[in-house]
Amino acid sequence: SRTQIAIVGAGPAGLMLSHLLARAGIDSVVIDLRGRREIESTHRAGILEQASVDLLAGTGVSDRVHRDGDRHDGIELAFGGGRHRIDFRRLVGASTRLYPQTDVFVDLADARERDGGDVRFGVGDVSVDDLLSDAPVLRFTDAGGARHEVRADVLVGADGSRGLCRRQVPEAHRAQYSRTYPFAWFGILAEAPPSAPELVYHHSPRGFALISRRTETLQRMYFQCDPGEDVADWSDDRIWDELQSRVGANGHRLVEGPITSRSVLPFRSFVQEPMHHGRLVLAGDAAHTVPPTGAKGLNLALADVRVLAEELERVVAGGDTAPLAAYSERALRRVWKAQHFSYWMTTMLHTLPDATPFDVRRQEGELAAVTGSTAGSAYLAEAYTGWPGER
Ligand code: DHB
Repeated sequence: SRTQIAIVGAGPAGLMLSHLLARAGIDSVVIDLRGRREIESTHRAGILEQASVDLLAGTGVSDRVHRDGDRHDGIELAFGGGRHRIDFRRLVGASTRLYPQTDVFVDLADARERDGGDVRFGVGDVSVDDLLSDAPVLRFTDAGGARHEVRADVLVGADGSRGLCRRQVPEAHRAQYSRTYPFAWFGILAEAPPSAPELVYHHSPRGFALISRRTETLQRMYFQCDPGEDVADWSDDRIWDELQSRVGANGHRLVEGPITSRSVLPFRSFVQEPMHHGRLVLAGDAAHTVPPTGAKGLNLALADVRVLAEELERVVAGGDTAPLAAYSERALRRVWKAQHFSYWMTTMLHTLPDATPFDVRRQEGELAAVTGSTAGSAYLAEAYTGWPGER
């Protein structure tokens, strides 16, 4: 069969792209190895930039984000025994929304279904081929066992950091930039009321902790841990002791409750350039990964496909692939700013395993410089709430 755009990956990037293309009258097919329930039950990030909210609500996906997403006008940075607020509205006139990625996914999957989009979950044996021809091909076996071959004008790899698409670009045609970190996050969900009105990012001598939230009765929290940590070694009591001792160093006390989910999240910075090869383009985590501090991953993926939809319209209208190079250049400008921001937030707030007392005091100095100055905190506020769109 034939479609205009074949999309590998039905996460937020792939589904949002398919939605935007449909609005422009462009057909697409989206496939994913995972089942819909599997994607829905994987806990991911929780913070949307204003531009991401606008993309969801303003393009007709759903206005549920306005009803169910709590507006956050700032965050707190806690260090050196106290808590310090960064006031996004006062500093840069912007805010964020707390709206979990799983809800973003559900809204997008529902909208594609409502609008008659072609989305196939639970497929197998996926391969892509003929990337340098005028009609690249996507092959897969659907959930019923039938084999499919879809020719398209362009293939989009929105299949995440462990997907197959970015590996199709020959080494001679791409550069990879990466950085690893000697720590990870231990993430939990707890049945308890909120412990703070806004998110609190804690620097402490025992390491980083983040107090986030989900609802009035369910809270999301993270603490820095060893990448090899085994969740089986962590009882509820041990988790609460560790969290309380970190936040307690900054005068914060958490409301405890039963822990219903626990997992270790890997940490990595990664970019593959360019974000296109022949008629294959990459979007979201398929092209870049950020460490979670600062919640940029989902927002970057949505920013990618907003630009990509525009450039794909040009490809469809004009026939040549120059707009794919333009997409890569435009997207990478934002990607690298977000790479820096995520790296900076990470290194400012986490304690390296071999940190000296000097290193810890220096970080406290950095945090005091940021929170104590309008210029310093305005940079953080601008980056956290998201930069204006790239031209
Ligand atoms: C959440 C995750 C983040 O990485 C972050 O910086 C803020 C919030 C969250 O899952 O709630």
